Amino acid sequence: MGNGLILGIESSCDETAAAVVERGERTLSSVVASQIATHARYGGVVPELASREHLRAIVPVTRAALAEAGCRLEDLDAIAVTSGPGLAGALLVGITYAKALAFARGLPLIAVNHLEGHIHAVLLHEKETRAEAGNAQGLSYEEAVVALVVSGGHTHLYRARPMNGTWHYKLMGRTVDDAAGEAYDKVAKLLGLGYPGGPWIDALARFGNAKAVPFSFAQIKPKVHLAGKAPRTKAAKTAPIAELDPRFMFSFSGIKTAVLRHVELHGMRAEAEARVPQVQAGARPPLTSEDALTLCSQPVLDLIASFQHAVVGDLMKKTFAAVETLGAARILVTGGVAANRELRARFTAEAARRGVAVAFPTLALSTDNAAMIAAAAWPRFVAGEFAGLDLSADPSLALGR
Ligand code: KG4
Ligand code: ZN
Repeated sequence: MGNGLILGIESSCDETAAAVVERGERTLSSVVASQIATHARYGGVVPELASREHLRAIVPVTRAALAEAGCRLEDLDAIAVTSGPGLAGALLVGITYAKALAFARGLPLIAVNHLEGHIHAVLLHEKETRAEAGNAQGLSYEEAVVALVVSGGHTHLYRARPMNGTWHYKLMGRTVDDAAGEAYDKVAKLLGLGYPGGPWIDALARFGNAKAVPFSFAQIKPKVHLAGKAPRTKAAKTAPIAELDPRFMFSFSGIKTAVLRHVELHGMRAEAEARVPQVQAGARPPLTSEDALTLCSQPVLDLIASFQHAVVGDLMKKTFAAVETLGAARILVTGGVAANRELRARFTAEAARRGVAVAFPTLALSTDNAAMIAAAAWPRFVAGEFAGLDLSADPSLALGR
């Protein structure tokens, strides 16, 4: 074993990313090429465009990651790549490139589940902050933690347990339809805001009254998912749901419809349409209440604040129910939606009230990146769990059982 340098490659959705991480605990470089500009005008990720953009970006992004880390391909100990879940064509670009590099250099190839990557984003961040504070030694994981992965493609709740250096996962709950980030993106589109919607709603919600519109979440009925209905979204396919406890299940398609109904009922449609050119002209999520009011009327700001309050409240309710059931002392919250300010503040306050710890990744590590992939690969590298050169993309790869 050399220095424990792993090159991570990530291309599961709309970011092409490469990073070099040392021994799963020190980021030497992390480069992300976002395709937001490509997909923005469609209000969502267009799979064919995503593959094309990955093809364009993969080589320069990887070169930049190596250059920034100050290392050459021959200094690496392994290549790690996201093998799923995600868009098939997008995943294949990263996998094919990773295989070619591994084959050419005679390096081991490590397949990483994207969801496990998100969980390791928090662990990587924790290790780096401890190291900066000079007490890297104090970090040992023995107890089970509750991990909430909440992004544009996933809303999954896991019990994660470290055992002999590797992590084991049990799926506790997940969404039966849309992911939370997907609801953010759809509601933002409906209101004529920019893409992705999360940062817009995050910024605007601060200027609205969260109590203005009472949104509620219906209890997920066990029968609905015990009936073995076909899953409705890509996200829903990533794991079987029949045996999951309804207390830990999410559903975000209802609130999206409720927002739509509110918009129609209160004549907010015209205002939303009028906003589109303004947003397309390069407006950014507002920072002051004056800016927010230039972009949205007060009733729209109130609607946005109420939507976010309800979504965060529902994520909290189910996560803390899982914490209580397991008697867990720690929570990890990760994925694009974990960048949300209200989410961070309310999870932090509730965790403190209950005497449990909660950890988030940095904002850059919350959304898709390759440092988390290289970090998640480290325990597998140590355990010698390598993938063959016949590795292929698994768009609906599940994490844990
Ligand atoms: O993890 P990610 O980059 O990609 C997936 O694996 O899906 O997450 C992207 C999602 C998008 O739906 C985006 O709207 C949401 O994360 N997001 C946010 C925020 N920043 C990004 N949602 C709420 N608040 C934010 N600040
Ligand atoms: Zn992701």
